[in-house]
Amino acid sequence: MESMEFTKAISGLNGELAVPGDKSISHRAVMFGSIAKGLTEIRGFLQGADCLSTIACFRRMGVGIDNLGDRVLVHGNGMRGLKRPAGLLDCGNSGTTMRLISGILAAQNFDVTLTGDASIQKRPMKRIIDPLSMMGADIASVNKNGCAPLRIKGRRLTGIHYNSKVASAQVKSAVLLAGLYAQGETSVTEPALSRNHTELMLRHFGAAVNSCGATATISPADELFGTKVAVPGDISSAAYFIAGALMVPGSQVLIKGVGINPTRAGILKVCRDMGADLTLLNENHSGAEPTADLLVRHSPLSGTVVEGEVIPTLIDELPMIAAMACTAQGETVIKDAAELKVKESNRIAIMVESLNAMGADVTETEDGMIIRGGRPLHGAEIDSHLDHRIAMTFAVTALCADGVTAIKDAQCVNISYPGFYRDLEKLTE
Ligand code: S3P
Repeated sequence: MESMEFTKAISGLNGELAVPGDKSISHRAVMFGSIAKGLTEIRGFLQGADCLSTIACFRRMGVGIDNLGDRVLVHGNGMRGLKRPAGLLDCGNSGTTMRLISGILAAQNFDVTLTGDASIQKRPMKRIIDPLSMMGADIASVNKNGCAPLRIKGRRLTGIHYNSKVASAQVKSAVLLAGLYAQGETSVTEPALSRNHTELMLRHFGAAVNSCGATATISPADELFGTKVAVPGDISSAAYFIAGALMVPGSQVLIKGVGINPTRAGILKVCRDMGADLTLLNENHSGAEPTADLLVRHSPLSGTVVEGEVIPTLIDELPMIAAMACTAQGETVIKDAAELKVKESNRIAIMVESLNAMGADVTETEDGMIIRGGRPLHGAEIDSHLDHRIAMTFAVTALCADGVTAIKDAQCVNISYPGFYRDLEKLTE
């Protein structure tokens, strides 16, 4: 795959843009629409490779899905209307697809095997195998290594109360979706509240879901009902322009219609803690999801501590936050973030190695990193390891580094943000 080169943005990032639809919400809209009765109309759907994997999986199970570009129509089959797919279901690079679908498939009346690319075949699936098995599911790692491929034989399920060791919306969602089909109530308690899009959207489709602190409870349902879903802009995609504008002198960027659900918006708090000039305008709602326009101006930043309950609310933004901390004065400590090691790549090891290659001073710790900011950055050769968030982080970091930064396999941004480089160029031209 191709390498792309980036250099300093002399006059900053300037202008306005709308980032594509939220990845987590786009996945869920297709999944819940597929098992609902009637039509679901999704606006602002993210046309990234991960969400297209979800569409492909449900089409293979007999669901009619019209992808009309910005609008996606899902002709739901009802909760018990999915069909056994011929052959394997391919989840591509998408952890959300694999883990959430597993919760649904555990309760069907057919058997199926889920697979995906090389990266997803290394990611931990025991975290869903364990709770789903407790509910009576027959789900196993084909190679007995706790990873995909996963073989799932549909079974009758029983509700459980599950105390999750990790704050993971994918684990929580897999268990809640299985709970839709189970006998009796199902609840999940997390060590800290993870993104709550599943809870909010399932309610919108007619399910009985309750949230109390870090516990979500679901009652079994006979049917879900198709509905309209307007997907807000993805704050995880906006994060690159927020950070870019803060880091590069002369910048002022307006990012319109971004989802600011508090279980996702930890990056806004961290930026403010670091001294960011960041204003929310036009606060509104897309269904149950809060939105706003974000006005961001270049700001002198200072180091901070990112830890504890805020971590799940910015987990995908931590690579960009780490790079931003390199341009801040003083020390930034990121901890309680061991989950970063089991994302599309080991994001702790790769961030530490790559930032240091650009002249930063970053030390790896067991569950995060320590960044001593303020050192001048220079261009380097960066291997994205086919991780979309690593590629986008370094395309932005290059804008405040001397010399040329070359990013290997840069096109992997298509996973979550196909137009990323075009949008970045528009702001810097
Ligand atoms: C997601 C949850 C998070 C996040 C991922 C999307 C979701 O993963 O990193 O990009 O849509 O539920 P975990 O649940 O594994 O933390």
